[in-house]
Amino acid sequence: MIAEGAMLGPNQPVILHLLDIEPASEILKGVKMELMDGAFPLLKDVIATTDVIEACRGVDIAIMLGGFPRRKGDGKDLIFKNVGIYKAQASALDQYADPNCKVLVVANPANTNALILKEYAPSIPEENITSLTRLDHNRALSQISENLKVHVGDVRNAIIWGNHSSNLYPDANHATVDIGAGHKPVKELIADDQWLKTEFITNVEQRGQAIVNARRLSSAFSTASAACDHMRDWILGTPKGTWVSMGVYSDGSYGIQPGLIYSFPVTCKKGEWSIVQGLKIDEFSREKMDAVERELIEEKTMAYSCLH
Ligand code: LMR
Repeated sequence: MIAEGAMLGPNQPVILHLLDIEPASEILKGVKMELMDGAFPLLKDVIATTDVIEACRGVDIAIMLGGFPRRKGDGKDLIFKNVGIYKAQASALDQYADPNCKVLVVANPANTNALILKEYAPSIPEENITSLTRLDHNRALSQISENLKVHVGDVRNAIIWGNHSSNLYPDANHATVDIGAGHKPVKELIADDQWLKTEFITNVEQRGQAIVNARRLSSAFSTASAACDHMRDWILGTPKGTWVSMGVYSDGSYGIQPGLIYSFPVTCKKGEWSIVQGLKIDEFSREKMDAVERELIEEKTMAYSCLH
């Protein structure tokens, strides 16, 4: 998708650096062969390597996919394993990547992995370290579109608050549907208000697990597509009148503890994101936003107890 321009647009040539672990080095060679055989006009080079320094040297964008996935009952152990992975990769990014490298953490637990990465890559500006909740954002748009029988491209401004976990809070209170030249609030269009407070939330929260149950594998294509959406909007800007959800370093907006990587509604311009301010938060949302904040504080405490 990156080689075809889905992430950086149809006019931006790219060099792909692919990192994998030693036991996967043959597979990595095969991936490189396929990329070359794709004869993508935008793909200027492929560096496929098991050497983290070679992988990180000079990169402008880092998409972090490596990690031990979260499974039921995982706690400190999982975070501890990820600290090891992120320490090596973050240190290499810190020393060898472009100083303004933009980072997107995809591997679970993504928000906390991003925090760990930030600890070991102190030279990368904190606003450059983000985590993926665009997948959940897109899932929320898709649920609304299905319920209202409108095209997903006409639904915007849902919000994912907090963590990429089963406690994330998908909020449709400010979402709209484009109708002709104008738009209407989703809350007015959805006859059953209860659906937004119940099924909608659980459908989005549980979607990752539903896909694992059906495919016997984690989501792949929709995650890749969301990662492209995240980077494209961050770098090239969000469309006018549209915000998206990104896990970013909290500055205390909406009363969320500063220093957490928390998913907020953001708009982006010229490679910089800013949190959408001034949205009205009702009591129901406040409780959900605080609950997921507590989960992230817990994860952060666990992660920091494993550092160094
Ligand atoms: C998803 O939301 O699809 C994934 O985070 C699920 C997983 O645990 O890999």
